[in-house]
Amino acid sequence: TDDEVVNITFIDKGGKRIPVKGKIGDNVMYLAHRYDIELEGACEASLACSTCHVYVHENYFDKLTDPEEEEEDMLDMAPFLKPNSRLGCQIILNKDLEGLEVTLPPITRNFYVDGHVPQPH
Ligand code: FES
Repeated sequence: TDDEVVNITFIDKGGKRIPVKGKIGDNVMYLAHRYDIELEGACEASLACSTCHVYVHENYFDKLTDPEEEEEDMLDMAPFLKPNSRLGCQIILNKDLEGLEVTLPPITRNFYVDGHVPQPH
């Protein structure tokens, strides 16, 4: 039902805004995949990569549940880490996140999964 809809906006590497409709309980990384947004997720949400790294809009950052230690550890290895960095696969939508904006970082590192570092484009 519409009660479950949570509108969020992805901002891609080129700065393009991509509004999408999620639902309560959706995982932001998988939601991005559903809309063909270029957010990786190499480890399938098992907190073993940092390729789902995103920047969370400051108005929403404090509304997220605190990161687990494993997430902090993975984020430490993400290129271009910022104070508002989170792993997209650890963000689960709820009504408080209506209007959420997440921005994709310029590059991600997939080193732990496939042994190479993607180049910026
Ligand atoms: Fe690997 Fe999120 S998909 S940590």
